[in-house]
Amino acid sequence: VSDLFDKLTPLAGVLRRHGGGDATGDVDRPFDTLIEAVHGPVDATIHGRRVRLFGSNNYLGLTHHPRVVAAQQAAAATWGSGTTGSRVANGTLAIHRSLERELAAAFDKRHAMVFTTGHQANLSLLSALCGPDDVILLDVESHASVYDGAQLSRATVIGFRHNMPSDLDKKLARLPPGGRNRMVVIEGLYSTSGDLAPVAEIAEVVARRGGYLVVDEAHSFGVLGARGRGRAEAEGVLDRVDFVVGTFSKSLGGVGGFIVSNHDALPLLHYAARPYLFTASGSPATIEATREALRLSLDGDDLRATLWKNAHRWWEGLRSSGFSVSPTASPIVPIYTGDPDRAVRLHRYALARGVYTNLVLPPGCPVARSGLRTSVSSAHDESAIVHALDVFAGAARDLGTAP
Ligand SMILES: Cc1ncc(COP(=O)(O)O)c(C=O)c1O
Repeated sequence: VSDLFDKLTPLAGVLRRHGGGDATGDVDRPFDTLIEAVHGPVDATIHGRRVRLFGSNNYLGLTHHPRVVAAQQAAAATWGSGTTGSRVANGTLAIHRSLERELAAAFDKRHAMVFTTGHQANLSLLSALCGPDDVILLDVESHASVYDGAQLSRATVIGFRHNMPSDLDKKLARLPPGGRNRMVVIEGLYSTSGDLAPVAEIAEVVARRGGYLVVDEAHSFGVLGARGRGRAEAEGVLDRVDFVVGTFSKSLGGVGGFIVSNHDALPLLHYAARPYLFTASGSPATIEATREALRLSLDGDDLRATLWKNAHRWWEGLRSSGFSVSPTASPIVPIYTGDPDRAVRLHRYALARGVYTNLVLPPGCPVARSGLRTSVSSAHDESAIVHALDVFAGAARDLGTAP
């Protein structure tokens, strides 16, 4: 009989190879980099050194907004530190309901549900609404929570090629007509590649072939659209999306997730979604901070303008240094090194010079897609962008820009 832990041996090997040490040490772990102190939305201390964060999801810099922090502190003082239970037991406070009403109104939808995390929103939606008689068609680059929710549902799961409406069309056409419900899941802005989804084209295919459309706006919420409601808003097709999923853990700077929809059965998920039923609800501080951050985001045109100005500057700067980056600018800019070792070298080079980025390595991606995930925020000032671009220009000279 094999040892219970044998299946983890390859992972330990990867960590040793790239992390220069054992997974229990604090220093130099390649993925869960230890942040020793935080000095602002995109400033921290790592390995004893002040660094600029070019690998957070703090797109609007709201983690340190005085109104958000004040709302959080007041909520803890008023409502206490936690709810101590599930939404269906003792965990629904008036402020949870208020946030749901505010989200529904913000998206101009009849219903909204708030979850403790965005991960649970996807698990809940897919596992409560889909079953063995249904088909889930997902973009192959979907987030793990979409894959996990699809698996939990026990529906038939079919992947279609990333951002390719024609492949979705082909796969829907092949399904026998009638009978099985089809749920199509895409993201608005893909978390690692920075690719923007062709939501309008996908919505057209879904409408023509029949099915329900889910758009996970985790990274596009706060970032895209006139009021920051995501890619579907930016493409003018919010009314053609059955379920918008989002998270509070990125541009809103908190933690939690949501679904908004015009389907009148959505509130039944309060009683049908196991990943929602059997977990404690978001803490009062989290919920009140989120309500304040939502208000700031909906009125945050200036923040979004700065974010996009930084995104274009960053993307163009990396490209002009010769790096292989995404084909279009967005607040998420991948740098492809085509080789895991080169990715680790580039990551360390930048970190040692005060620029933190995210490392992307197999098995989390194919070898050819190894590299860094970088991201910008409206909170990056001129000096941060200039410094980080200088560091990467230096890396291009010292390490090369392969592939
Ligand atoms: C596309 C997508 N969906 C869902 C999630 C999960 O969100 P949360 O961090 O709130 O659990 C993430 C976060 O990484 C994501 O990128």
